[in-house]
Amino acid sequence: GPPLHHMLKDVSWLLGKWRSENGEGQYPTLKPFKYGEEVEFLHVGQPNLQFSCYSWGLDTKKPLHRELGFLRVKPESNKLALIIAQNLGVCELEEGEVNGQQITTESHTLGRLTFGKDPATKKIKRIFQMKEDRLEQIVFMETVDTPMCEHLRIRYEKVN
Ligand code: HEM
Repeated sequence: GPPLHHMLKDVSWLLGKWRSENGEGQYPTLKPFKYGEEVEFLHVGQPNLQFSCYSWGLDTKKPLHRELGFLRVKPESNKLALIIAQNLGVCELEEGEVNGQQITTESHTLGRLTFGKDPATKKIKRIFQMKEDRLEQIVFMETVDTPMCEHLRIRYEKVN
């Protein structure tokens, strides 16, 4: 394929396909649950990464939450943005920064369907980081009913 755009060199450690069956879901309102997820980051030579996050239930093997999005880097900075569409109808813009092999972001805009399921999500925060040769994602969220708390934690292995 085309060479990686130079603006993406600080996030090139995300590239490729990642998979895990050790996801741990939780929230004050939920019974803790386990999940599997496959994540892929790819590029087409443009100054953005395209990504997908597909999760499934470990007991049923049925698809659960799904996300498609892009990662954009702010030129000549360590700032970046995530642009994400979720299958349940949430659309989000998150911004943050990359420091070494860690990305932290926080939503500043969340779109919601007029017929979206309650409770509405108010804010989302994410951490992507490399821990040894494994990519970890941790997601926190705030809803209209519950303050900012951890919802998801998963450590993927590289598939290819
Ligand atoms: C429940 C949001 C990703 C699995 C929920 C709830 C919200 C939510 C608002 C309801 C909480 C409550 O009732 O207080 C989100 C957001 C996500 C996300 C914003 C992404 C940023 C995921 C992923 C999984 C997942 C990747 C993977 C399996 C669940 C499950 C429940 C739940 C099993 C409980 C059952 C249900 O309501 O469907 N989520 N979620 N979520 N979430 Fe997530």
